[in-house]
Amino acid sequence: MYPKSVQITEVGTRDGLQSEKEFVPTARKIEFIRGLAAAGVRRIEATSFVSPRAVPQLADAAEVVEAVRDLGPTITALVPNAKGAARAIEAGVHEMMVFISASESHSSTNLNMSIDQAIAAVEPVAKMAASHGKVLRSAIAVAFGCPFEGDVAVAGVSRIAGRLKALGIRSFTLGDTTGMASPAYVEALCGRLTDDHPEIDLTLHFHNTRGLGLLNVATGLRLGIDKYESAAAGLGGCPFAAGATGNICTEDLVYMLAELGIETGIDLEAMIRVARDMESCIGRPLPGQLMRAGPRSRLHPVSSVRRAVG
Ligand code: COA
Ligand code: ZN
Repeated sequence: MYPKSVQITEVGTRDGLQSEKEFVPTARKIEFIRGLAAAGVRRIEATSFVSPRAVPQLADAAEVVEAVRDLGPTITALVPNAKGAARAIEAGVHEMMVFISASESHSSTNLNMSIDQAIAAVEPVAKMAASHGKVLRSAIAVAFGCPFEGDVAVAGVSRIAGRLKALGIRSFTLGDTTGMASPAYVEALCGRLTDDHPEIDLTLHFHNTRGLGLLNVATGLRLGIDKYESAAAGLGGCPFAAGATGNICTEDLVYMLAELGIETGIDLEAMIRVARDMESCIGRPLPGQLMRAGPRSRLHPVSSVRRAVG
């Protein structure tokens, strides 16, 4: 019923950190990525080569990528335009991600461009990726609903995918930027995209804003989708989308998948350690649950609780 294995892309140092006001030192970001690699994470969206004025937290994108590109995992980064692509290629990313919004309002807050302008900006990026032998992937933000406009038509998302496909892109991440997805919507959107574009490769990116993150993953699994994005400790959110909160949590996702008999190649205890480091670095409680409870195999001595005697 479910895929045998799932590929997780960790986005904690990108989506996770991008809204954090307090600058996380570059050395700390690199340490997280080393911890993720040691935990068995094979794909890491490390940072974004966006305007440092728009996202000051990720102004150190080049230093981060230069320090982690030879660790082993595939290192990918967001690029919004040709300038970002040039910086990313120079730093030595393995893959680049362009991102387009499914609504005009989010396109304008997130990229200061209309959807048409944003797609036009992908064209030079696609040429640069091809000439440097880099895989170019794409993300469609607010694909499951927009916090400014509400429901997003599946036909519109499919049209955007078609236009990106015409630029040679085959990999699409559907981003639920503010946690508006639900199982029926996941089925409708993924079904429409696979009907309209059977050759494309889908990755799902959920936020747990309304508590449905892992249920939406379970829906994706039932549809046979085997690629997901998540952030250690459940940190995350887009600063240019109202009401954005954390990504689904990597260690909670790894646990759920393991309980379903699905392999990820990620060591849960090592992942929990990375999540705890992330929480202590951020300095406030983060939403991850496994880093508090531990897996079900973690037992407690009877003497650790009070005995209910009447
Ligand atoms: N990297 C670094 N600097 C960049 C850049 C990039 N990728 N793109 C543009 N800039 C710089 C320009 O060089 C220019 O600098 P200057 O004023 O010193 O000459 C300045 O930013 C403005 O450039 P412009 O092309 O007019 O950009 P803009 O102000 O219209 O902003 C984006 C457009 C796309 C750069 C900006 O909206 C952005 O970075 N968005 C990303 C948001 C994001 O990361 N969202 C979360 C992911 S979902
Ligand atoms: Zn996100």
